[in-house]
Order: sequence, then C-alpha cells, then structure tokens
Amino acid sequence: MCEYYFDGKGKAFRPMLVVLMARACNSHYNNSREVHPSQRSVAVITEMIHTASLVHDDVIDGSDSRRGKKTVNQIWGERKAVLAGDFILSAASVALARIGNTTVISVLSQVIEDLVRGEFLQLGSKENENERFAHYLEKTFKKTASLIANSCKAVSILACPDPTVHEIAYLYGKNIGIAFQLIDDVLDFTSCADQLGKPAAADLRLGLATGPVLFACQQFPELNAMIMRRFGLPGDVERAWQYVTQSDGVGQTTYLAQRYCSEAIREISKLQPSPERDALIQLTETVLTRDK
Ligand code: FPP
Ligand code: MG
Repeated sequence: MCEYYFDGKGKAFRPMLVVLMARACNSHYNNSREVHPSQRSVAVITEMIHTASLVHDDVIDGSDSRRGKKTVNQIWGERKAVLAGDFILSAASVALARIGNTTVISVLSQVIEDLVRGEFLQLGSKENENERFAHYLEKTFKKTASLIANSCKAVSILACPDPTVHEIAYLYGKNIGIAFQLIDDVLDFTSCADQLGKPAAADLRLGLATGPVLFACQQFPELNAMIMRRFGLPGDVERAWQYVTQSDGVGQTTYLAQRYCSEAIREISKLQPSPERDALIQLTETVLTRDK
C-alpha cells in the first residue's frame, strides 16, 4: 500500500525543484554543483510527506482516482489508507532524523503542522467577501506552498550558513508554490479528467470556492449564496460552473499566478548565475503552462 504511488509515474515536481535548489545554492556558495547526500534525502522526504498527505486527503475527500489509478482508500479501504499515510509519514520522519540537523528537522516539521492547519482551513468558510480571499491564500500557502518553501529552505541550510540565501530559497519556494496551486485550481475548470488523472470540477463538488470562483463572484454576486452553502443545493455545481466560465475568473487567477511567478524569479535571480538557477527560472514557466 505504501509503495503504491512510488511507481515513478508522478510528475516528481517537488523533488526535482528541491534538487535544483540544492545545486543552485551550492553553486552560489562555493561554485560546486554536487548535491550532498543530505540534500538528496530532503528531496526524498519532501515527496514522502507529499504522498502521505495525498493518501489522507483522498480519504477526507472520498476520492476514488488519482494519477490515473484507483486511490489507496478505493482499493484497500479507508482504515488501511489512514494507516498507510501514517506509515509513509513515519518513514519520512525517520529519514529526517537521520539527516541529523536540528534546524532542518524543525523546518520540515513545520510543514506537517501547516498541512494539517491548511486542511482544517479548507473545512471552514468565511462569510465576509474580503476575508474570503485572504482565507483562500492562507489555505493555499499552508496546504501547498509551505512544503515547497520549507524544503527549499532546508536544502539551502544544508548548502551554506548564510541566512540571506535561506530567505531567497524560502521565498522562491513560497511564491512558486502559491502559483502552482492557483494553476491547479484553474485546471480544475479547464482540464479534463483524462488529462488530470482525477475527476475535473472536483473542487465545486467538494463545496470548495477556489480562485476562479472567488474572482467570478465579483462579476456575478449571485455566486455568494452558493459559496456560503458550499454548492449544496441541486444544480448549484452546474450553475456555479456556468458563472465561472462566463466570467474572467480563470484569466484573473492565471494572472495572479503569473505575478507570484515573477516574484519567485525576482528572488532566485539574487543567486549567482548557474544552469540550475536558470532551470528554476524556467520552471516558473512550466508551472504556468502545465496542463496536468
Ligand atoms: C491535496 O488537496 C492535499 C494536500 C496538498 C494536503 C493534504 C493534507 C492533509 C490531509 C493533512 C495530513 C497531512 C499529512 C502529512 C499526513 P486537494 O484535494 O486540493 O487536491 P487533489 O485534487 O489532488 O486531491
Ligand atoms: Mg483531494
């Protein structure tokens, strides 16, 4: 059960980004692009924490497909899926302790707290429209960007003792992480299930108002009531979908993601030039143009 998603078929976006960040920081600090074994471990641990959280997320969301295959809960049931997620997280914790750096342990432990808080934020909703967008961005940071930001920070700590480099790594990860999730929320409206490997329009069906809906709401205030009842009445999901597609919600969310990517580029450009620094810049484009 625990090996099920480690089949080499995921995008491996997080570990790739972490290894690139490790090389970019090593290059910046002492002109060496060699990845330390401890940095490679961070990349592995990052993917493990992510996978553990997905196994639990699919139980919470009652999802039956992910990455084009059945979910763990669908095949083995919820009880075993919860335990499988726990087991992957425990293996990640052991690997983290083995790195033997207390700062790195605390940076990556923060991620686990953020993931859980992010999931709780998603269960709640705000009545006030202004608070709603801030709540959405905070949830987005905690559920998605914290893992990327703090993994980048962890490998930068293992690269060098300079706190300005740690801050650059963290802010690059935070900004590209938020952009990544904004585009994920766009894809829920623009992509099809075949491409995504999971059902499309899933967010509305789960009662979630993401970026495209929140922007659409400014143009179509009728959406407000639907957001408040979490699209719970018959026909709500379909009507909300119509409003979003008639509005510029998708365009505005994409534009916001572009701004976060520009900020990520501004940060990473403070490092010395290296092929990996350029790859991290290039990666922001991939985030914006991906279709799965
Ligand atoms: C995907 O959400 C889920 C996450 C990014 C994190 C979920 C976090 C938890 C369940 C907290 C428990 C954490 C650990 C470490 C075990 P989504 O439903 O928005 O995306 P999806 O469409 O891919 O399912
Ligand atoms: Mg889910």
